[in-house]
Amino acid sequence: MSGTGTACNETVHNDDALNLLEQSHIDLLQLVIELPDNALRQQFHADLSPLGWHLGHTAFIERYWIEEQTLGDEKHVAQFRDYYLPERNKKSTRSARLPEKKQLLEFVDECFAYSSEILPVLMRHPGKHPLLKDNYLVYFLIQHNYQHRETMLQILQQQNLLSGTAEPLSSLMIARAPLLPNLRFEAVNALLGTDPNPLAYDNELTRHPVVLNPFSIAANAVSNAEFLQFMEHAGYGRREFWGEQGWQWQQVAQVTAPLHWREHSAGGWYAVDPEGTKALEPEDAVCGINYYEAEAFARFAGCRLPTEAEWEYAADNGCLVSGEAWEWCANLFYPYPGFKAFPYDNYSRTWFDGNHYSLRGGSRYTHPLIKRPTFRNFYTPEKRHIFTGLRLANYRD
Ligand code: AVJ
Ligand code: FE
Repeated sequence: MSGTGTACNETVHNDDALNLLEQSHIDLLQLVIELPDNALRQQFHADLSPLGWHLGHTAFIERYWIEEQTLGDEKHVAQFRDYYLPERNKKSTRSARLPEKKQLLEFVDECFAYSSEILPVLMRHPGKHPLLKDNYLVYFLIQHNYQHRETMLQILQQQNLLSGTAEPLSSLMIARAPLLPNLRFEAVNALLGTDPNPLAYDNELTRHPVVLNPFSIAANAVSNAEFLQFMEHAGYGRREFWGEQGWQWQQVAQVTAPLHWREHSAGGWYAVDPEGTKALEPEDAVCGINYYEAEAFARFAGCRLPTEAEWEYAADNGCLVSGEAWEWCANLFYPYPGFKAFPYDNYSRTWFDGNHYSLRGGSRYTHPLIKRPTFRNFYTPEKRHIFTGLRLANYRD
């Protein structure tokens, strides 16, 4: 067969997108399918909903955006809105109201089957609907599913942290002095962000110029062995490394290591990961630290955190090794010039609140589609249950 027309190419692209969506369903279900009802229901952390809520939320969101927001039919989703829309349901009440596992899985299967049936039709006949342009909606749903899958892995890590799973074989990690930022950039007019494309979230739009002063940035993220150096130099207790807000946080929190590091009975540290306990690999990117800890480490190294603009410029020039841990950036999360909320206010706009910092790169639990140079993540500075570390940068003359 020799299909050369655009219709055929479109069909191929549609199939690629739909296959990714189907795979996201499999990947979500695979995390929960073997677990007992109470593991889906229990809330392990004040910032994290029950695992079962996340699964139900992803399924609900597909149906909500397709059936209600695109096709204008709200009769099926209406009864689930108050439970699965986050702004309508406090985290602390989600556990008690979660359906039993069997019922939950029936709801999820039904929503996913609806998507699989209706999306191919809508994608072939997108009409003028803005959500259907260039398959935007299906890419939005794929990314949304994988963002929640990463949160579900955070929940599994919390479960492991609470259940005190067995120690791995001991292996001592030797602390190492931080490598200083090795990539040097001159002052430059850089372009930040992206033009509209089917993957882009509203906060990545649009491509616009920014002025960068000369800076240096590390090719690699800070490693576990480097972070251990900070700990062994009493970095957690030395005021001079910490910002004002960070020191206030530390006075209360009194932490001495990344969130998921545990002291081994034979000496040294190991990690409690979503998959269970593991030795810490000295050269892996450190994670389990919040903005304040990242800032303190950077000062300990005589450096600072990179801004988002510096990060993206270096990434665009093919210079950064990233993707094991999200990286805290120096700046607050902010709207690009001419920002327009799309497809809804609560994805980004609500969080331009002066209390969220931008994160870049992606973790080892982030889907490759999301690991793009323009993608912007955002969290408040005290959060450490996310898979987040840092990269060093500095000023230059
Ligand atoms: C951008 C990762 C902070 O998980 O709260 C998921 C992503 N938004 N559903 C989050 C998101 C709506 C969001 N983060
Ligand atoms: Fe969501």
